[in-house]
Amino acid sequence: MPSITDLAAPFAGWSALYADSTLVSTTVTTIHILALLGAGGLAIGADRLTLRATVPDASRIAEELRAVHRPVLVALTVLFISGLALATADLETFLASPVFWVKLGLVTLLLANGAGLARTESRVRASLPVTDALWRRLRMHAWVSLTLWALVTVAGTVLVNAA
Ligand code: HEM
Repeated sequence: MPSITDLAAPFAGWSALYADSTLVSTTVTTIHILALLGAGGLAIGADRLTLRATVPDASRIAEELRAVHRPVLVALTVLFISGLALATADLETFLASPVFWVKLGLVTLLLANGAGLARTESRVRASLPVTDALWRRLRMHAWVSLTLWALVTVAGTVLVNAA
């Protein structure tokens, strides 16, 4: 089983560059925050739309949710790549940080809920008029999404100060 030091060794050059260059560290953190703004902003906007809608709006809402998937996935990919760059800049600290693992756990739940929401949305589109049970499930995914985006953002901020 490789030690944390062994796992961090291949990133020594990146870690030194990140520590020495304010331009590099600021750029990577800014990309992480902008990707959060993009992915989280679009996702939360779609959740709000779902929670304000009623059953007669189901087909319009399902269409809106289908259309927002791709931009959210693109922004999430940038969030992941920038997150990996942040983590590998100081891997020894973050791998040993319980906050980091709680955050990755919340990110995993966020992705699982996103997959559940996409599945439910395509079932809504395939089975109009929508059943009350399916509509309740879509609303549940929207509430879980809202909650997890907030929790991951808090965990990310705590990570900076308490890794
Ligand atoms: C939905 C996904 C994510 C959200 C909402 C998110 C959010 C945040 C936020 C708000 C910060 C604080 C930035 C600051 O104040 O400087 C942060 C920092 C950080 N994030 Fe993320 N993040 C996400 C995914 C990830 C992933 C997947 C990773 C790693 C694989 C990651 C690694 C980090 C690290 C290491 C920091 C601390 C950087 C430092 O101490 O300078 N994040 N994140």
